[in-house]
Amino acid sequence: MSQKVIILGIESSCDDTSVAISANCMLLSNVVANQEVHKQYGGVVPELASRSHQINIIPVLSQAIKEAGVCVTDIQAVAFTNGPGLLGSLMVGASFAKGISLALNIPLIEINHLQGHILSHFIQESNEEYDIPEFPHLSLVISGGHTQIIQVNDPYNFQILGTTIDDAAGEAFDKAAKLLGFGYPGGPIIDQWASKGDPYKFHFPKPVVSGINFSFSGLKTSLLYFLKDQLNKDKDFIINNLADICASYQRTIVEILIEKIIKATEQTKIKTITLCGGVSANSEVRKQFAKLSESGIKVFLPKIKFTTDNAAMIAIAGYFKYLNKQFSALDVNPYAKIKI
Ligand code: KG4
Ligand code: ZN
Repeated sequence: MSQKVIILGIESSCDDTSVAISANCMLLSNVVANQEVHKQYGGVVPELASRSHQINIIPVLSQAIKEAGVCVTDIQAVAFTNGPGLLGSLMVGASFAKGISLALNIPLIEINHLQGHILSHFIQESNEEYDIPEFPHLSLVISGGHTQIIQVNDPYNFQILGTTIDDAAGEAFDKAAKLLGFGYPGGPIIDQWASKGDPYKFHFPKPVVSGINFSFSGLKTSLLYFLKDQLNKDKDFIINNLADICASYQRTIVEILIEKIIKATEQTKIKTITLCGGVSANSEVRKQFAKLSESGIKVFLPKIKFTTDNAAMIAIAGYFKYLNKQFSALDVNPYAKIKI
């Protein structure tokens, strides 16, 4: 049997410090340190994020190596996120990866964060057979920073078909959560409240955007004016209607996502779709997208633990690039904004 390729993956694009180790597509370990420090500020503070990465990265690496049961010298390449993300945060992961590459004399592999999210569907966790999406497929990337429909022709070839013209789906959740007085990130809190509410109690207008592009900023503004109106009549309106507001707002976001992906499958005739990014953890998103299989669309929902930022997806994307010998020079730079 040929030897497996051991890859070390590093993810530090935002506020999660993560290190993973894989053997081909098999995940051996995936350690994530979340940064609680941002909660009190209602959003990620870039300077605090990069400082926390510096503090966390060595203990996270040690734990990942321990859990994987490999020796440092077994590692054959180091893959890291080179963007998009917060520049200071990316720099920590990039510098650390370069140091490992130099010290162990192994190839360095830069990974686009969004490609990592998309390829998270190829992570294998046990020797059992697992279903992977065929190529080409469509990937709906729904995160805090991005909302895109991408045609994935193979693990190296990504074509953007649609994108948001303003806010991302995750921002639509987080900004609404702020209006409702929730903490950050607000998406999971809206999800929880929505499960107890009536999704058809209130109606919010859906944006009119051409093709398979998205827009979410108008939806958030319509919630803002709706709340202002209602609070003028009843100062306890939010408290008394929280679950129904959340359920109705969430339903609108999910309907927008479903309408656009259906359009994309019709336009491309590609009937396999994958979801990825933090918003794909949303319970209503998962429920409604799973239903699409009834209309002949094959849907891949990521495991919850791989929806948010993690290094497992970076290690697996690194493995694909390793097979193609797509290595990076030591002077490679991370970029806050970088296209897929
Ligand atoms: O992919 P991710 O972890 O980070 C980025 O790359 O942006 O996504 C974070 C986003 C946040 O906006 C968060 O509110 C949202 O994902 N999110 C959710 C849920 N879990 C995370 N949104 C709605 N429902 C959820 N259950
Ligand atoms: Zn992400």
